[in-house]
Amino acid sequence: MIQISELQALRHSYSPKLPKIFKNEIAIKLRTSSLKIQNIEEDIKNILKNSANLTLLEASSEIILDVKPLNIGIILSGGQAPGGHNVIAGIFDAAKSLNKDNKLMGFLGGPLGLLEEDFIEITSELIDKYRNTGGFDIIGSGRTKLESDQQFQKSKEILKKHNINSLVIIGGDDSNTNAAMLAEYLKEEKSDINIVGCPKTIDGDLKNEFIETSFGFDTATKVYSELIGNIARDAASAKKYWHFIKLMGRSASHIALECGLATQANITLISEEVAEQKMTLAQVIESIAEKVIARAKMGANYGLVLIPEGIIEFIPEMNRLIAELNDILAEHKTKWESFVVNDEKAEWLRKHLSSESSIVYFSLPHHIANQLVLDRDPHGNVQVSRIETEKLFIEMTEEYIERKQSTVKFSALNHFFGYEGRCAAPSNFDADYGYSIGYTATVLLVNDKSGYMASLKNLTAIPAEWKPLGVPIVSMMTMEKRHGHMKPVIKKALVELKGHPMNELVKNRNEWERKSSYIFPGPIQYFGPESICDIKTKTLLLENNKGE
Ligand code: FBP
Repeated sequence: MIQISELQALRHSYSPKLPKIFKNEIAIKLRTSSLKIQNIEEDIKNILKNSANLTLLEASSEIILDVKPLNIGIILSGGQAPGGHNVIAGIFDAAKSLNKDNKLMGFLGGPLGLLEEDFIEITSELIDKYRNTGGFDIIGSGRTKLESDQQFQKSKEILKKHNINSLVIIGGDDSNTNAAMLAEYLKEEKSDINIVGCPKTIDGDLKNEFIETSFGFDTATKVYSELIGNIARDAASAKKYWHFIKLMGRSASHIALECGLATQANITLISEEVAEQKMTLAQVIESIAEKVIARAKMGANYGLVLIPEGIIEFIPEMNRLIAELNDILAEHKTKWESFVVNDEKAEWLRKHLSSESSIVYFSLPHHIANQLVLDRDPHGNVQVSRIETEKLFIEMTEEYIERKQSTVKFSALNHFFGYEGRCAAPSNFDADYGYSIGYTATVLLVNDKSGYMASLKNLTAIPAEWKPLGVPIVSMMTMEKRHGHMKPVIKKALVELKGHPMNELVKNRNEWERKSSYIFPGPIQYFGPESICDIKTKTLLLENNKGE
């Protein structure tokens, strides 16, 4: 018998809260909303011709009487995010309550499972073991990109062969881009298979006017904030270390911003601000080091610096360097892979980088330079989680303080929080939100909709008041350079420098820098008053004008 902890057992029996619209009926007819989506770029319209006219959908008061049978394929794609199992549970419960003969097939290991025809049926025994748990281990995840016509053709054949008439892709911006492209291909082929996406990512960068947040951000930031709070207590007790904490989040600084607001760390760096102010690496370091010196003068030889993992890409000279490296590595992949020794690589790069980028590259510590040329992810992105920016910043801050011949004692420790939070048991918010997103995805499929993302509006209210929406994925897309070519992709939502969460940081950061006014959020609570268990992130509240 599989052993589970007492908490896991209790958590299995939690009933996620649903929007009241789903309490009595699931076969809800969707209609075009009076809210308008943004204008679609011409290039996108030309590439996604069959999807360009999709409209925003909302629930109507009508019911669909002849509900079609559903045979749903599910793919978990990209990095893990708490709430994913509940999306599947939501789809399962909604589909089965419509018709007990409806079926769910889970493709194993992400999109590759579809291409390799590797799947299992999701039964009630299986899903029951995973309700309200973190992780994606029910079927596994992966980062294979579905992008070529050949892959689309194969996907179509495999789905047809197994009578799968609907596919739900649960993923981030890149995976939902794949969902939109596959939906477009199937529309062009006049296929009746529908594709629906669900907004997943701890990074919080898949959001817009109609997607208030992605599931996973809530739990992950709460886990990191708990850890940061614990470190803050330690720093304030021992009074001898600076803690440089890098936080996951890829290019966007939403995680760092949320954790900064939740813990009142002394310094929270925001990549988007660094880019806007065109700060050089030296200036970023100067800004940190001067704060370290100022605190030391007040007798505080300790503190916390939060560093978004993607910051390196936002420092203009580094951004130029990374862009050049991306292009060079994409163009000369075979040559690059033929080098066995690092020296050969370095010599070759010296010839191919521009003189400015070459100076930057060769001035970096070896370990950081090597991390910049590690394999790109399948979408052509540099894997920022593997660049040890926190160590680089410590080394450079130390050098700066020494150079200034300051008498300040600077002793720093580095941390990287990412994997610690990605598979945590979902908070009530993520358990409820994931489950409700699963219901919404099913309603889209019942309505024969394809090329849509399932969404819920009004998330700062109690779940009963959440409003299901179907958002055309095409409306979120823009053209970007990937692997050296312009491609349609979902636009990443970066931190808005004039947005409410950022304003809150700007308003308070001088005080947080000087004083040690830390907040200790403590662990996620699953049992107890709703005011604690269902608490929302500061980001969600502030973005919806519900914060301080
Ligand atoms: P996605 O949700 O976009 O897949 O990314 C989540 C994430 O945790 C990022 O924050 C991080 O940079 C990346 O995944 C790490 O990738 P990997 O899981 O491949 O190590």
